[in-house]
Amino acid sequence: LYSLENAFNIDELKAWEQRWRRHAPKTDSAEYVCELKIDGSALALTYENGVLVRGATRGDGITGEDITQNVRTIRSIPLRLMEPPARVEVRGEAFLPLEVFQQINRERSQVGEQLFANPRNAAAGTLRQLDPRIVDRRRLDFFAYTLHIPGRDDASISRTQWEALELLQQMGFRVNPHRKLCESLQEVAAYYEYWDTERLNLPYMTDGVVVKLNSFALQEQLGFTQKFPRWAVALKY
Ligand code: IVH
Repeated sequence: LYSLENAFNIDELKAWEQRWRRHAPKTDSAEYVCELKIDGSALALTYENGVLVRGATRGDGITGEDITQNVRTIRSIPLRLMEPPARVEVRGEAFLPLEVFQQINRERSQVGEQLFANPRNAAAGTLRQLDPRIVDRRRLDFFAYTLHIPGRDDASISRTQWEALELLQQMGFRVNPHRKLCESLQEVAAYYEYWDTERLNLPYMTDGVVVKLNSFALQEQLGFTQKFPRWAVALKY
C-alpha cells in the first residue's frame, strides 16, 4: 500500500500539477476526483469468489498485520459481495466516529485506563485488539476508496476513479458521500477551502483532501515514484 505525497496549500497543489504534467505533456484538460482524507487506519480487504477472506493493516506498506477476525466485526464491511469477480481487493479507511471515540475515553477514564490521544490512535489500537468481541463493541466504521482486481487491468472494471467509487457503492461498501468530480484545479481549490471549515461539522475526523486524477489511463501513464503515486496528492489542513 502506497502512501501519498503531501501538499499544504494551493501553491503546492499547483506545483504538483506541473510535476504530473511533465510526465504526461500531451494532456490538456484533466478531471480530478476530490475525496475527504479520513483520519483513520488504512485497510486492505481481499475477497475470493465474493467472500471476505482477509483483512490486513497497512503496516510498513509491504507487510501488514492479518486482522481478518476483527475486520469481520465492522458492519459497513460486507462479508459477501454480489456478482463478484474471482478475486477483488478493496482498500479504504477504518475509523472511529467521534461520538464512539469520546464514549470509549469516558469509559477508560472511569476505570483508570490511559486515554486514547485521538480517534486515529483509538481506531488503530482497536484493530490490533486480540479479542474480536471488544472490536465488535467499539463500532468501527469504514469508507472504501480503491477497487483493484489483481492480475487484471483496472480499466477493465471501470475507466475512472469516479466509476470505481460508484461500483464499490453498488457492491455494498460505504463510500464517502462528499466526493466531488472537478473539471479544473480552481474547482479543487474551492472544494479544499469549503471543507476547511465544514469538516468540523462531520461526525468523524478528516485531516485533508485527497486529489486524484480521474482517468485510469492517465494514472497508468504517470505511474509511481519510489514512495507515491504521481496521480494523487494529499492536500492537508
Ligand atoms: S488513496 C495509492 N484516499 O491517507 C494511494 N487515501 O496519507 C492510496 N486516506 O495511507 C491512498 N482517506 O490511509 C486515499 N480518500 C482517501 C483517503 C486516503 C484517507 C489515507 C490512507 C493513506 C494515507 C496517505
